[in-house]
Amino acid sequence: MPQHTPTQTAPATPPPSTSLTVFLETFGCQMNVLDSQLVQGQLRGLGYRFIDDWKQADVVLYNTCSVRERAEQKVWSRVGEVGVHKKTHPHVLLGVIGCMAERDGDNTVRKYPQVDLLCGPGELDKLPMLIDNAVRTSLEDRGGIHAAKIALQGDTHRRSATLAAAEDKLEMLDLSRSFSPDDHNGSAYVRITRGCNKFCTYCVVPKTRGAEVHRPPTHLIDECKRLVDSGVKEITLLGQTVNHYHYDNTQAVELNGHLQPQIGTIIGPNRGTGGPSPTFGTDVTSFASLLKKICDEVPDLLRLRFVTSFPRDFGDDILQVMADEPRICRYLHLPVQSGSDRMLKMMNRGYTVAQYMDLVDRVRAFMPDAELATDIICGFPTETEEDHLATADLLRRGRFKNSFIFKYSPRPGTSAYDRLKDDVTDTDKKRRNNELLAVQNEVSAQVHQAYVGKTISVFVESISARERKAIASASGARGVELGWEKSSEPGGSVGELVTQLVGRTGGDIIVIFDGDPALIGQIIDIKIRTASPLTLFGELIHSTATTS
Ligand code: 5AD
Ligand code: SF4
Repeated sequence: MPQHTPTQTAPATPPPSTSLTVFLETFGCQMNVLDSQLVQGQLRGLGYRFIDDWKQADVVLYNTCSVRERAEQKVWSRVGEVGVHKKTHPHVLLGVIGCMAERDGDNTVRKYPQVDLLCGPGELDKLPMLIDNAVRTSLEDRGGIHAAKIALQGDTHRRSATLAAAEDKLEMLDLSRSFSPDDHNGSAYVRITRGCNKFCTYCVVPKTRGAEVHRPPTHLIDECKRLVDSGVKEITLLGQTVNHYHYDNTQAVELNGHLQPQIGTIIGPNRGTGGPSPTFGTDVTSFASLLKKICDEVPDLLRLRFVTSFPRDFGDDILQVMADEPRICRYLHLPVQSGSDRMLKMMNRGYTVAQYMDLVDRVRAFMPDAELATDIICGFPTETEEDHLATADLLRRGRFKNSFIFKYSPRPGTSAYDRLKDDVTDTDKKRRNNELLAVQNEVSAQVHQAYVGKTISVFVESISARERKAIASASGARGVELGWEKSSEPGGSVGELVTQLVGRTGGDIIVIFDGDPALIGQIIDIKIRTASPLTLFGELIHSTATTS
């Protein structure tokens, strides 16, 4: 049985090159950012031109997120605006792609007839066909009512026991990525795992992104090499549960000249923490061995990161590789979700607070300078004040550099939505959220303060948001120059352009400093002068790139 069977199939003929303009807006996680980059590369290669003003576009695409209701509401309001716009511009095509398309399915087109196409995250390789098909139908109908073009996984992806029998078309989307230096600022994402097998009771991702699938290590190494050859200095490996990566080389299957991804082995009952990660066989590329392989085989890569880690099955083998290899960033995004064992059980997280804290201790034993961040859901069904206080306590003990704290949002398609009443009032959720934020703020301030006076390596990402705003609010060509001045500061020689830049440490701490925008994409040393709870402020001590 094929792995990706769309509910309605797109035409088999490839779309012709086109000069249509496309506006693409991305909501949600880093996985969506990468999906959008891949979609953009694919459509550009076919002749579509991307523009920044949705009102001028022939095709408007929203790459969406379903994790919380608020993320969806934003998209619905955009869809409403485009609906009004289409009354006077009937040729415009509107596509909802990503998790909302998959979660809401054809309900979306029933509720919002202005939507011309829906494409789930597991079907993005079909997007050019869907667009082409929708363009043709729209031309034939001259703006009249037509059937939306739809490609969704539905439930088919969990019915096939193995990918061995079917070509995984989505792999082609990753394999066809562009390696142009114009497409990155020195930093790039590489997806190693798609989907998720965890079924946390509140989470819609296993439904929208499907079963856990691991990409062949040879493809990953090749992708990293080609990115680095194009000037990338920092790569972030992506996976919903990135440390679960494993690829059984004895079972590798090649179809149409390409190795195929493999469905992940479901990890059995809780095996506790410590010791090695589960290996699933003799010739298996584990996450630890993948990290080592990338470091060994891509020597010019300066920084290797990964998100998001699942707190279970995170063996010491991974920590050892991280400790041994300075190019792997000492940063873990390790969502805990709650500090109450009762809540963790109801969320189906598969670990206890003690096991989570054991992992935090192991991380710090291997790498005393590691930084950690976490995610929290407050106001999960039946959460009491006692549970809430336990979470606050965990935030203090975890000493995270920051936490992403969310109010529980019941999501259709999850087991919590079906089985548990959303019984914590919004007032209580808001209060608990604020109380947790206050605790985290205190901890974050201490973590950041500890850097003051130190000199640290920073990967320069971009011009700071404040500076970008100043540039955007100034008019015309003059605006582009605004905020850039001749430097008279020590460290920046006269004649260099200086502006406010933002970068990150290996531990993912944000650093703001003045420098030449030509430093974007390089790693430089910054002396930290002051700190706020979420940001460090410093100055450049020398502008030549270092390799740390
Ligand atoms: N409600 C609130 N937060 C959620 N998350 C996932 N699902 C929900 C939900 N239904 C949060 C979790 C996860 C992060 C990506 O989003 O904390 O780690
Ligand atoms: Fe969602 Fe849990 Fe999978 Fe994370 S591990 S994507 S929270 S189901």
